[in-house]
Amino acid sequence: MPRILVVEAGKPDSRGLLDAVAGIGQAVVAEARSGREALQYAARSRPDLALVNVELAGDMNGIELAQHLRIMYDVPVVLVTERSSPVRLEQIASVAPYNCVLKPCTDYEIHLAIHVALQRRRLEHEQIQQQCAKAAVQERERLAAELHDNVCQLLGFVKLQAFSARELLAGGDTAGADMLLQRIIDSAQQTQAEIRQEIRDLYVRVAAKDLAAALQACARGFEIDGTNAKLSVVLTPAVEQVTLDPQTSLQLTRIVQEALANVRKHAQAQHVTMHFDIVDGNLTGLIEDDGCGFDEQSMEWIARGHFGLQIMRERARSIDGQLNVVSSPGHGTRISIVVPLDKEAPAG
Ligand SMILES: Nc1ncnc2c1ncn2[C@@H]1O[C@H](COP(=O)(O)OP(=O)(O)OP(=O)(O)O)[C@@H](O)[C@H]1O
Ligand SMILES: [Mg+2]
Repeated sequence: MPRILVVEAGKPDSRGLLDAVAGIGQAVVAEARSGREALQYAARSRPDLALVNVELAGDMNGIELAQHLRIMYDVPVVLVTERSSPVRLEQIASVAPYNCVLKPCTDYEIHLAIHVALQRRRLEHEQIQQQCAKAAVQERERLAAELHDNVCQLLGFVKLQAFSARELLAGGDTAGADMLLQRIIDSAQQTQAEIRQEIRDLYVRVAAKDLAAALQACARGFEIDGTNAKLSVVLTPAVEQVTLDPQTSLQLTRIVQEALANVRKHAQAQHVTMHFDIVDGNLTGLIEDDGCGFDEQSMEWIARGHFGLQIMRERARSIDGQLNVVSSPGHGTRISIVVPLDKEAPAG
């Protein structure tokens, strides 16, 4: 049975939404008299739907409440408003309600709006499940291809080189055999590095949409790589709750991965800090280490075929972000990124 939360201020002499919803049957109905009360209920009981009167008493109106319910608890909302209400249609539409009802109206109209919203929600869930199933199949195919390209090719190469080394040894050519063995070692090392990167990427892909989880996965990746540097991660509650479009989330996590990989490979740092916050509608991130630093003005890395920093900048640009690198020899490295959040995806 669906759980429906009805939120209205309640005028003593009028017949309220609660009475209308009570007649719907086959539903568990709860009531809240203010935005705060509704949020407390949503935190505890996660209703399947909220029927919210736009005109609420207290410091939160129905529009603000609908937004909080959607972003914080992923609760779909049906908004109810008076025909004569001063609230503009654009304000109502801006919180993407699942349906709207204009009062005065009949109980039947309220029931219909609720049924349509619940049905829409069910269809969305089905679609998400189908997409997840499809993504799982694609991921399996990709992993199979990856295993083929990395592991099978390495083993094939090792087998051939080992046969040749044995023949060389049988003929007394130990120097030739040694050279082949070195090739085997080099290839095994390279494949090991590629597979480790693949495992790190998998962690991040799993969490792609949830930025906080993806950032924590990057931090875990840094730690399992075995470095002496101590990493402190600070993600503010706003970052914990934000839902980004997958592309933004993915590019951000790739930037963080590369920044942390650089710390691991080059910085010889004692401490690294990763700090993410949301300020004035912008996501801000900072990765700072107290390591050896480098001359950030130098372009020689690119000439030498090192592209990590350059790709970080391009990734930031692709999501309309700004990346700043501040470093000098002996003074650590500070990488900051600012990304506007106006492309924020609807939750769910
Ligand atoms: N946090 C850091 N501390 C010290 N030096 C750094 C740091 N980050 C980058 N560097 C220096 O800047 C250079 C360029 O970094 P970049 O990420 O572009 O290339 P890379 O890490 O050497 O190679 P790759 O192309 O695999 O990323 C590095 O070679 C290193 O000397
Ligand atoms: Mg690099």
